[in-house]
Amino acid sequence: MTIRTTPDWAIAAQEQVERKVMDLAERVGGAFLHASVQGRYHPLASDVWTSGFWPGILLQVYRRTEATSLLKMAKAAEDELEQAFVSDLLYGLHHDIGFQFQTTAVARYKIASDPIARRRGLLATSFLMSRFNPAGNFIEAWNTEDRRGMVIIDTMMNLPLLFWAAEEFKQPRFRNVAEAHAETAVRYFVREDGSTHHIIRFDQKTGAPIEALGGQGYAPDSCWSRGQSWAVYGFPLAYRYTGVSAYLEVAKRIADNFIAALPPEYVPPWDFRVPDPSTAPRDSSAGAIAASGLLELASLLPDGAGEQYYSAAVNLLQALTTRCATWERPDQDGLLMHATGKLPANENVDVSLIYGDFYYLEALGKLAGLTETCW
Ligand code: GLY
Repeated sequence: MTIRTTPDWAIAAQEQVERKVMDLAERVGGAFLHASVQGRYHPLASDVWTSGFWPGILLQVYRRTEATSLLKMAKAAEDELEQAFVSDLLYGLHHDIGFQFQTTAVARYKIASDPIARRRGLLATSFLMSRFNPAGNFIEAWNTEDRRGMVIIDTMMNLPLLFWAAEEFKQPRFRNVAEAHAETAVRYFVREDGSTHHIIRFDQKTGAPIEALGGQGYAPDSCWSRGQSWAVYGFPLAYRYTGVSAYLEVAKRIADNFIAALPPEYVPPWDFRVPDPSTAPRDSSAGAIAASGLLELASLLPDGAGEQYYSAAVNLLQALTTRCATWERPDQDGLLMHATGKLPANENVDVSLIYGDFYYLEALGKLAGLTETCW
């Protein structure tokens, strides 16, 4: 077994993260956050797709510090989140229910064994199951008329909710649906070279693929770096739960592509195939998600076989810490600057994104020996 020591800079970064999280928790409590505006996060309604990440950060820091105030705030957020199911906010929920409940209810159940959290995990799983379209074996992403039949690579990171529930409730049907979706993703989203499409639109009635769309990326044939990072993490998790070797093979292909596309300074551009990636806005969140995914992948490979993924993750995290971390910036609520939300809509460009913070913290934890995450 490879014995690794945690780099000093990573230990120092974790301490800085905890300090910043405690400060922000004091100001916002168990709120729902998304993107910073002039350095500040502002609370949003619970149906925003990122609503689980801040409570999830509180839980991660609780796990390390045992500060019960953080656990209470996370529980309060989860109580409010559940209410979305019995209000008009229900219409705003979609495939990202996984992000919302895995980072909150499932995470808290794993930490505190609270049966209420377990029940909420099942509720969210049932909602996610209801989005499965058997005509094409995919989970539909969104709700509005203009987005009908759209399936997106991001959903790979919502599948762990189904895999978790299959094990927790001994219900293989949850896993069957997750696997059906993952197989569709392998078939239509992952290109030969390991890059990925963001969106494929399918015919809702027949399940036939209609077209690839650029989505949050530059173009239909480009490679949106955060989409790629969702795949970098999602496929190793599918393999971890199922042991299906095809998922591991595709995970390696996707990770190899991601690593090869990184610029010399490591922080990814928002899309790897923009005309001039060297001057394009960066997306630190893609780097953070990928770092945690690469560490996951390395942990699933036999000794020595995952070394290139482990060192790429370390390089990514060190670059994020040097270039994007906010330790000396009290004017910044986020942990990482220089993230890009949705560039084609000119939305949240060069900001902090709460999920970038979440995965950065998670990946630092893995460097320090964390083996159980919410996923
Ligand atoms: N899942 C949406 C995004 O990554 O922006």
